[in-house]
Amino acid sequence: MKKDFFKDSKIKFPAYEPWISKEDEKIISKTLKQSMLTLGPQLEKFEADFCKYSKAKYAVAVSNCTAALHLSLKALGIKENDEVIIPDLTFVADANAVLACNAKPIAVDINKENFFLSISNVKKNITKRTKAIIPVHIYGQVCNIEEILDMAKDNNLKVIEDCAHAVGTFHKSKHVGTIGHTGCFSFYPTKNITTAEGGMVTTNSKNIAEKVRQLRSHGMTKSLKSRYSSEYPWVFDIVEPGYNYRLDEIRSALGITQLKRIKKINELRKKASFYYHRNLKNIPGIILPDMVRDRSHSYHLYTIRVTKPFKLSRNQLYKKLKENGIRTTVYWMPIHEYAAYRKFTKKSNVVNTTKIYDEILALPLFPNISKKHQDAVIKVIKSVL
Ligand SMILES: Cc1ncc(COP(=O)(O)O)c(C=O)c1O
Repeated sequence: MKKDFFKDSKIKFPAYEPWISKEDEKIISKTLKQSMLTLGPQLEKFEADFCKYSKAKYAVAVSNCTAALHLSLKALGIKENDEVIIPDLTFVADANAVLACNAKPIAVDINKENFFLSISNVKKNITKRTKAIIPVHIYGQVCNIEEILDMAKDNNLKVIEDCAHAVGTFHKSKHVGTIGHTGCFSFYPTKNITTAEGGMVTTNSKNIAEKVRQLRSHGMTKSLKSRYSSEYPWVFDIVEPGYNYRLDEIRSALGITQLKRIKKINELRKKASFYYHRNLKNIPGIILPDMVRDRSHSYHLYTIRVTKPFKLSRNQLYKKLKENGIRTTVYWMPIHEYAAYRKFTKKSNVVNTTKIYDEILALPLFPNISKKHQDAVIKVIKSVL
């Protein structure tokens, strides 16, 4: 086990540990010797491999999932004063990407049982200005995407799937991220595959893919390759100014070898999730995640709810686990709690997230988690009975 990154000597069991294989190390060293370290063959291969795996027609790699969300919104024409619906229980990236388009993030309530957007609450929040919706395949499970699509169709909304947790999650044989207008993936270190920092936009639309590709690299109308194969490489146009959201060659290379073992990674995550599930059932007040129904899942997070009659509150259990050397955390503080977004959400709209926020706790989960690690978590929770 690696030493605690935050240098807390009392921590024996981290919440997460990355899995970097010998093959990962090898491809990184090899890529470092290339003559060009960005916009090169590793990026092309990673995108092609991601298309093959997800069966998306197009995949455009970017610097992170927040950039993927931002460029998706831009490519779909979201602009000043438009409203975009997001779940109140999500990471701030969704709100920030909307604000980066000068649009308004409207955070709405979720269902308590599965953490998905509440369709009735979404409907209540649709106005003339609502242009898009960002459903999140939260914790790795496929969300209520069919209901979202129906509602989006009735109201002419664009659908941007937040797949940050969901590499390897399918819905009726379609990989998530290929169902709405775009899908946005994260390769942050804790995610199912990692490039340290990185992201991907998937889409089946050529126009959207081209727009995202241009905006990723300053809005340049020509790719690096085509510029250097033409007479004057410095001649290109900018029609719409873009960003530097490129994924370099080293990270792309890491993405290739990580994606190669996604099946194994998700199998190990599944095994560990079911170990918790078997060993934590029937504890009064501990509500386990609803992950065993016929929904596809990539087991990104294992989030329990700590409710009465369990003898400790969520915060007390968090502290008890920490006292026993175990790190856990909460995904996330609801969007409406942050000063920057508060003005976009009515508190009466988010009754479930307000309640659930005090109950949720994500237990340590990663592919190579040991039985010893999981048993330590289980033992502390059971010791409260
Ligand atoms: C649901 C969700 N969306 C988006 C993001 C943003 O991902 P990134 O850090 O790659 O920008 C995250 C990151 O944790 C996330 O959990």
